[in-house]
Amino acid sequence: MKNKSMITITILAMFSVAAVGCSDSSKDTPAVQQAAQPAAQPEPAPAPPADLPEGMGPLPTEVPVPADNPQTEEKVELGKILYFEPALSKSGNFSCNSCHNLGTGGVDNQQFSIGHKWQRGGRNAPTVLNSAFWSAQFWDGRAPQLEDQAKGPPLNPVEMASMDETEVVARLTEAGYGPLFEKVFGANALNYDNMAKAIAAFERTLITPDAPFDLYAQGKADISEAAKRGMQKVVEVGCTSCHSGALFTNNTFQKFAYGTDEGVKSVSGKDEDDHLFRVQSWRNVALTAPYFHDGGVKTLDEAVRVMAKTQLDTELSDGDTADIVEFLKTLTGTQPQVTFPVLPRPEGHALSWSD
Ligand code: HEC
Ligand code: HEC
Repeated sequence: MKNKSMITITILAMFSVAAVGCSDSSKDTPAVQQAAQPAAQPEPAPAPPADLPEGMGPLPTEVPVPADNPQTEEKVELGKILYFEPALSKSGNFSCNSCHNLGTGGVDNQQFSIGHKWQRGGRNAPTVLNSAFWSAQFWDGRAPQLEDQAKGPPLNPVEMASMDETEVVARLTEAGYGPLFEKVFGANALNYDNMAKAIAAFERTLITPDAPFDLYAQGKADISEAAKRGMQKVVEVGCTSCHSGALFTNNTFQKFAYGTDEGVKSVSGKDEDDHLFRVQSWRNVALTAPYFHDGGVKTLDEAVRVMAKTQLDTELSDGDTADIVEFLKTLTGTQPQVTFPVLPRPEGHALSWSD
């Protein structure tokens, strides 16, 4: 566990305060007293609904940021360019966005992503949306932070398949990234670590506030009766012992007796870590089918039933399952609106692709 000291940034609130209209109550106030009042009183924040289960609440507006990689506007912009940069891959074909498509919930909706030479890995690609909130990255948590994670894919043989860090840096240099890195990190700063830092900074902006549930939890809007029944049901049957809080994950690793993947054990080699996986968040889960680390379950309905059975030894009725699914659908937040960046390229000749 490195780098415990975290600072936070505030993400711009997506809401402007509702305009204060002409309030009828002012009629009761004597004119003299009214003149002494400030012209516009801020409207009191709406109260959260009485039936909101304890611990549930709107998505936080602040993400943790490591002290050694502060957010800056220029860094986020560079990170965005790199996120869409296929030159990170040997073939020049795959960018982060190939498998974590920001137009489709930050996933590719494939069981296993297609990477270099049509190869497929053994795990489903989780979404990058809100990943800044997770305690560790990957299903088995093998990357402590987004910075560590971002160094993996370019060199992973079944993903982007570049040979080594030097090859990636050479490609970025050839493309013309030198001045862009210099602007963010200073002179001679085009290196692999800074590439990962910039990508991580961009990822920390990919959060999805204002899901229907969030507006409901803030008393600003309603959700359907079915969704409300589902919201109570997940508490009643015990889902929220793991999928807890505003993130709908307690960010721990829990046993999931399913499939042949050994989870955390595949990293640690320890028997006690067998089949431990990070509790996945429910945020945007309606967009990220197929489900589970092996993408082996096609529908949310089936994923809910599998969870109830394996984790809680419960058979859910069709009605309860449908209600829970309706509730999960209210957790789809406002998707980040990302403008496709212009990528630096040399003038008058192509980059030298390997194959
Ligand atoms: C060929 C497809 C592919 C490409 C390209 C790819 N990824 Fe991934 N990504 C995956 C898969 C599969 C996983 C899950 C692997 C695992 O857990 O073992 C993953 C996991 C992640 C995670 C962890 C999310 C979580 O919830 O734990 C993040 C963050 C991420 N990728 C970001 C990136 C970035 C940034 C890039 C570009 C540098 C990238 N990925 C390129 C397929 C891909
Ligand atoms: C003991 C902890 C625990 C309990 C209780 C639990 N879950 Fe999970 N849940 C997990 C873990 C761990 C994962 C990740 C599974 C994996 O590796 O594929 C997960 C994954 C999921 C997923 C799939 C997410 C995805 O992106 O693929 C859904 C949906 C889900 N849970 C819903 C529920 C529901 C509904 C309940 C109650 C009926 C529930 N869970 C109870 C631990 C739990």
